[in-house]
Amino acid sequence: MEIGGKIYHFTELNSTNDFAKGLLTGAQEGTVVVADSQRKGKGRLGRNWYSPEGGLWFSIILGKGNGLLIPLMAGVALCEILQELGLNVSIKWPNDIVIEGKKIAGILTELEGGRVILGIGLNLNISRFPDEIKEIATSLFLETGKTYVREEVLKLILGGIERGYESLSNGDLQSLLDKWREYSATLGREVEIKTPQRALRGRAIDIAQDGGLLLELSDGSKEKVLAGECSLKGK
Ligand code: BTN
Repeated sequence: MEIGGKIYHFTELNSTNDFAKGLLTGAQEGTVVVADSQRKGKGRLGRNWYSPEGGLWFSIILGKGNGLLIPLMAGVALCEILQELGLNVSIKWPNDIVIEGKKIAGILTELEGGRVILGIGLNLNISRFPDEIKEIATSLFLETGKTYVREEVLKLILGGIERGYESLSNGDLQSLLDKWREYSATLGREVEIKTPQRALRGRAIDIAQDGGLLLELSDGSKEKVLAGECSLKGK
């Protein structure tokens, strides 16, 4: 399947994910929606996503798929491309792309009409962040001092996602999980996972076949979490 065979480009949208959702009927798998800026960029867990001009904000319409494994695959693809560009990135579960704890990219997948909308936000040429997030966010520009051609970086990422999606569709889960483990900033760490219902603390010991995070709790029992906000606690 070709990703990016059809690309819709806008100077401004509320959210590329929302626009992609509106396109669903009739849109081909692999269709991409990009916006120079978003008025109401959406983050995970109902948060806003800071989306000024200079970033790379886009969504891909994919076919039916696993709503947890696709973002993991996208996270790995992003790490591979960013590493090729010389950045020392890692993944904080489930799919925050971070450099020394600061977030450089985020992934928001939404299921709609049985299809997966994969939304990716990459802080590309952003030179400053608002006070509320400046301690926890970074960009390619801030890390390297260079400015990037957005179309070139988009093309690299779409290629990486096309390869990852194909290998996932062919059932090659093992290599995805192995790569995820390699990039993980979470495994081996003491973490706290917060969901609206509860907070769970334990040591992150592995990623499960379905993309869940396996925790070992202080009483030695094991528990798998599928969603939530993960914060890293000490070594
Ligand atoms: C996160 O909270 O880490 C996920 C952020 C996802 C942001 C991207 S930007 C393109 C796409 N459209 C949106 O409204 N959100 C995603």
